[in-house]
Amino acid sequence: MKMPQKKKKPLPFVLVNMAMTADGKIATANRAVHSFSSRRDLKHLYELRATADAVMCGARTVEISRSTLGTGSEQFRRLRLQRGLAEYNLRVIVSGSGSINPRAAIFKKHFSPVIILTTARASKTKLRGLRTIADDVKVCGKREINFATALRWLRAKWNVGRLLCEGGGELNNALFRADLVDELHLTICPKIFGGSEAPTIADGKGFGRLAEATQLQIKSFKQVGNEVFTVFRQTGRL
Ligand SMILES: NC(=O)c1ccc[n+]([C@@H]2O[C@H](COP(=O)([O-])OP(=O)(O)OC[C@H]3O[C@@H](n4cnc5c(N)ncnc54)[C@H](OP(=O)(O)O)[C@@H]3O)[C@@H](O)[C@H]2O)c1
Repeated sequence: MKMPQKKKKPLPFVLVNMAMTADGKIATANRAVHSFSSRRDLKHLYELRATADAVMCGARTVEISRSTLGTGSEQFRRLRLQRGLAEYNLRVIVSGSGSINPRAAIFKKHFSPVIILTTARASKTKLRGLRTIADDVKVCGKREINFATALRWLRAKWNVGRLLCEGGGELNNALFRADLVDELHLTICPKIFGGSEAPTIADGKGFGRLAEATQLQIKSFKQVGNEVFTVFRQTGRL
């Protein structure tokens, strides 16, 4: 007899958006250069944000980029409203240790809720501190974040149907490993950074066997000026 299956809560549609050099780097090895794409690519970033309920980044990216993960100019907020989205996107920070600088730029502008995803590695004191700077703090996982659980929770509690992840490499890799990325938007910039320590679009542990690799299909690519804007769709594993 077939046992009734417990229905899983739905996941958001997940997009990853990154700018990458021709040698596959997303920043220089010393992390000093992290913004290197064109103004057109910056517009592309805001265009994508204007389609998403929430924008998510790893703790290191939030700290280094000094970004508030905002919507950009008013035209993008108008677009959001026309699309039936909230005027401002939610902002999600990932930190397994719960070590986020409370003075980071993201906490200085309160135009939309900031949500922190963390793990049981974060001490009670750290959690208390995080709750004073963020609107919501969710512990999902013992040592590493269980992203399937975290994303289902974001959907159920915060109504996130479309989640845009803007890196960095460690966070992206965790999402790829968990099979949670639906689309990868990659802007290829005509530069070489070199350096074996320079971050790439998917760092961390990585896969060891071809069968484990995330399989992608090219959805579109377009040259604009001196950059190539590509979109890949995830097709699962081999
Ligand atoms: N070119 C681009 O488009 C682009 C975009 C974004 C970022 N970047 C660059 O990328 C670099 C940062 O990337 P990164 O890989 O070093 O850092 P990252 O992914 O931004 O952040 C890493 C941190 O996020 C947390 N984290 C990530 N995955 C986790 C998991 N599975 N479980 C628990 N916590 C997790 C951890 O925080 P804790 O240590 O607190 O636990 C980890 O230290 C910067 O240089 C930035 O400028 C470039």
